[in-house]
This record gives sequence, structure tokens and C-alpha cells, in this order.
Amino acid sequence: MDAFDAITDRRSISRLVDPGPTPAEIATLLGAAVSAPDHGKARPWRFVVFTGEDRSRFGDILEASARHLAEVAGEPLDEARADKERRRFLRAPVVVAVLCRMQARRVLQAEQRDAVVAATQNLLVAATALGYGSIWRTGDAANSPVVREAFGLDADDVIVGFVYLGTVPADTALEERVVDPTPWIEPVPWATPTDASGS
Ligand SMILES: Cc1cc2nc3c(=O)[nH]c(=O)nc-3n(C[C@H](O)[C@H](O)[C@H](O)COP(=O)(O)O)c2cc1C
Repeated sequence: MDAFDAITDRRSISRLVDPGPTPAEIATLLGAAVSAPDHGKARPWRFVVFTGEDRSRFGDILEASARHLAEVAGEPLDEARADKERRRFLRAPVVVAVLCRMQARRVLQAEQRDAVVAATQNLLVAATALGYGSIWRTGDAANSPVVREAFGLDADDVIVGFVYLGTVPADTALEERVVDPTPWIEPVPWATPTDASGS
């Protein structure tokens, strides 16, 4: 698959099944991720790869996170919701938590995050090129103090997302994407502020 097709064929696929990428393929995908532009070569990206049993083990943390959020909201966490949380990472054979660990550099923290966002997109596109489905998810877990603590994040660090990877089920309906940027192209602003005021 050429690069253009991998970019435009990428879709967020909610239901992903076995087989997921192999360890060698995961290494290839993360190699693509860390090929992203990165101002000042800060290398702020970190990846935590969940496969097999580790996905259900992390479910304990996701449940604790949801319980914490429910407590803060003054609501109980019912058993159905607790079960959903425990099973969250089982929605795909591989889940990669993409973290931004802010580096003590002159590069703005916003730009360090931008580099990790670009790495995440590379990961999604590379997965598409290898024939796998993917989805970038955030949700409550990406902002949860319980999950942040589990990853040992410092105050400025960011959970950029959870990338789910796996095989696209044969019966998945893929929406046709119109690759037309016209609605989002604006004219070059030739007028200076002085011109715009009419003086
Ligand atoms: C920062 C970010 C967070 C996202 N979080 C979620 C999420 O929590 N759950 C979800 O179903 N999709 C999530 N998505 C995927 C978007 O919903 C999806 O990209 C959008 O619907 C467009 O569909 P497409 O990716 O197939 O083009 C997220 C996307 C981004 C960029």
C-alpha cells in the first residue's frame, strides 16, 4: 500500500479482533511512530504496549479510575459499569498507551505534545499500511488521576491516547471518505490590519 492510500484509507474501527500485530510488527509500528517530526529532538513520546493478560490486568486500574470519578461525582459505580471498565482493553488484541513525558528542554511543552500527536498519527497510518485496523481513544481514562498515577506521570505529562490495534472484522462497513479539502481552505490574508480598517 502506498503512503497516500494508507493515509486516506485509515478509519477509526471500534471493533477489532484477533489477530493483532505480532511483536515484530509492533516494533515496526512504533518505529514509524518515532519517525514523527519532533522539535529540538526532545523525544517526549513513550509507549506502553498491552497484549494478552496485561489488558485484563489493566482493567483493575480502569475500574478503580471509574470508581474514583464516580465517587467525586457522588454517584455509585454499578456492577455493569465496573465490568465494562474491567473489559475496556479487551476490545482489541493490542492496546498502546501513548504518553507524552515532558522533557526539560527549551522546546515548548505544547510542541512536545504536538510531536507525540504526530507520532500517534504515524502509528495509525502505519497500522493501516500493514493491513490492521486501529482507533485512537481517549475518554475518561486519559484524564484520570488514577490512570496517570499507574503510569507514574509527572504533573505536566500527558496521556495522549490509547491506540487500539487489531484485525478489522469482515462485516465492518467502512464509510467512503471524500478527500476534498476545499471547505477548509481560506484565502491568503493579503490585507494588512491597516488596510482592513479602511484607513
Ligand atoms: C484526540 C482524539 C481522541 C479520540 N477519542 C476517541 C474516543 O475516546 N472514542 C472514540 O470512539 N473515538 C475517538 N477518537 C476517534 C474519532 O472519533 C474519529 O477519528 C472520528 O470519528 C473520525 O473518524 P475516522 O477516524 O474514521 O476518520 C478520537 C480521535 C482523536 C484525534
